[in-house]
Amino acid sequence: MAKRTLVTSALPYANGPIHLGHLAGAYLPADLYVRYKRLLNEDIVFICGSDEHGVPITIAAEQQGVKPQDIVDKFHTMNKDVFEKFGISFDYYGRTSSAVHHQVSSDIFAELNQKGVFRKKTESQLFDPEAGKFLADRYVKGVCPKCGYEDAYGDQCEKCGTSLSPAELIEPRSMLTGAKPILKETEHWYLPLGDLQPEIEAWLDTREGWKSNVMGQCKSWLKSGLTDRAVTRDLSWGVPVPVDGAEGKVLYVWFDAPIGYISATKEWGIQKGDHELWKRYWMDEQTDLIHFIGKDNIVFHCIMFPATLMKHGGFVLPRNVPANEFLNLEGQKLSTSRGWAVWLHEYLEDFDADTLRYALGTTLPETKDSDFSWKDFQTRNNSELADILGNFIFRTLSFTERFFDGVVPELTGPSETDLHMLRQIEQQRDKIGQCYEEFQLREAISQTMTLARAGNKYLTETEPWKTRKTDMAACSNTMHVCIQVCAALSVLFSPVLPSKMQVLRSYLDFRSVSWNEVKQHMLPAGHRVKAGDILFHKIEDDAIDTQITKLRKNTEPPAATSFEPVEDEIEFEDFLKVDLRAARIIAAEPMPKSKKLLKLQLDLGFEKRQVLSGIAGYFSASDVVGKTVTIVANLKPRKMMGELSQGMILMASNADGSLKFIETDGEPGSKIS
Ligand code: MF3
Ligand code: ZN
Repeated sequence: MAKRTLVTSALPYANGPIHLGHLAGAYLPADLYVRYKRLLNEDIVFICGSDEHGVPITIAAEQQGVKPQDIVDKFHTMNKDVFEKFGISFDYYGRTSSAVHHQVSSDIFAELNQKGVFRKKTESQLFDPEAGKFLADRYVKGVCPKCGYEDAYGDQCEKCGTSLSPAELIEPRSMLTGAKPILKETEHWYLPLGDLQPEIEAWLDTREGWKSNVMGQCKSWLKSGLTDRAVTRDLSWGVPVPVDGAEGKVLYVWFDAPIGYISATKEWGIQKGDHELWKRYWMDEQTDLIHFIGKDNIVFHCIMFPATLMKHGGFVLPRNVPANEFLNLEGQKLSTSRGWAVWLHEYLEDFDADTLRYALGTTLPETKDSDFSWKDFQTRNNSELADILGNFIFRTLSFTERFFDGVVPELTGPSETDLHMLRQIEQQRDKIGQCYEEFQLREAISQTMTLARAGNKYLTETEPWKTRKTDMAACSNTMHVCIQVCAALSVLFSPVLPSKMQVLRSYLDFRSVSWNEVKQHMLPAGHRVKAGDILFHKIEDDAIDTQITKLRKNTEPPAATSFEPVEDEIEFEDFLKVDLRAARIIAAEPMPKSKKLLKLQLDLGFEKRQVLSGIAGYFSASDVVGKTVTIVANLKPRKMMGELSQGMILMASNADGSLKFIETDGEPGSKIS
């Protein structure tokens, strides 16, 4: 029986566009694999969709002053479209705000609840007394208890990667108001991973062929001991907890999102007119379930989701989770907030999809973090796609058109060199296939280029432009062989370069064959081909420089253009009258009814003070807490909007209009002179 495979790519949050880091982690590798499998004529379904719940979505909505639904509608459409343009060939792209998904995830929760799998616990959680809300996940920031990073999120420290719960943060502060959270009791449902550890461990031990980076991470979590994980949250955006008396609570996004794979498969079947089709993929032992993800998702796909499925029963568990490491950009960590990223929709305005599929495919972060650079992109295109693959194809087809009227010549009395070249077709096919099977996609791509390189070299060395005049049989043989190599490449390269290889097949008038039909002789003598246009053009330095400049422009503030003139001279005694002190901002909140003012509480060492500062247009309350800044400490106190302000915070105004604090390493209260 043919194998059946269900491939998923991590559902991207619908709160922003897709960039190269996303592609390299979960989408391009999955698509390469799926396209290869389709060529084997295997039963394979490729599922993805938008992750539309969770705090990243609601925070984006709040920042932009719109509803969460508006955000997800916008990015769902945009991301679905850009994936399609990039040739990511999902069979179905769902979304977790769909009715089917709400139903499927509620049902799974209800079933687990009814089976008594969850543990209900009342625990104290961080609560913003001003906003009157519990602070789930990213609604709270604070100091990481592991590494001391000051801006760790309530669910994870991005500096050291530790996953956290909000209550573990040191000096937590609310992202809503900047207020210091209080502890308040609330009831939640927990997946008892602590108790389930032996089962999870035993199951993981049966997994074969996993990448060592993935299994290594799992083992290290198991070693430090799994702890119970809450699968519900006090939030208003998400799938409501399907239990009476759970008003105001929704399923934790990491509980419902992976179930999105199931609901999207279900919707795919419904769309095909078969309501039960999804069960063949999810409830039949014959299915190989493969999750393509980035490394930050490993715990959820290798521990939490399998545990959920296991306790529910009836579902297949992942056969493999070929998670990738991270992609850096020009030697630096990708950062969407700093603008250090290449957005796919912008890329596609300037270059074509296949070029990036190839260039990125050769630098996938499969076993360790890797780097994408524009220079490397150019070299991959110019020296490999254009100079090797494109050159080989163009030389072969134009020579055939010119000297053989576009008809594939006979192979008669082939030399050992000819036979050796022909044998490499099948050898490479098997080698490349093996790489795909083992998720070594970089190697698969590089082995495919090896065949093109061999073809190019063979063509150069057999010199048909000379044999044409001296030994017509040899010349015919060369062209016969080269055309076979082109035909093989048009199939073997099609997972990587789907649209270019389709064009090539049209030149070759070659209906696509399956992977295993790629062999030494596919286009018989007498078959007609045409030269066609050059498939890969060189990318000039200018085009690359434009990209690099654009990237740097996104991230660097514009150069200062004008400075304020220096004020009139003063006496030293006058300067001494101004008492400057270091002060630590210990709390901050917006001033009601004021767009400009933030109400700050300062620690001056010897006393605490309140200062109103006109910086609300530049900083949010949570940005400023924890900073030690410079203040004028002896400014006459004054009242603004009914509140007392005892001092003034010094700010540097940049030429571009941005403001910066005068931060100091001095102790709170120390005199600055
Ligand atoms: N939205 C998550 C992220 O971008 C991934 C969700 S994967 C799923 O990191 F399994 F939960 F769907
Ligand atoms: Zn940390």
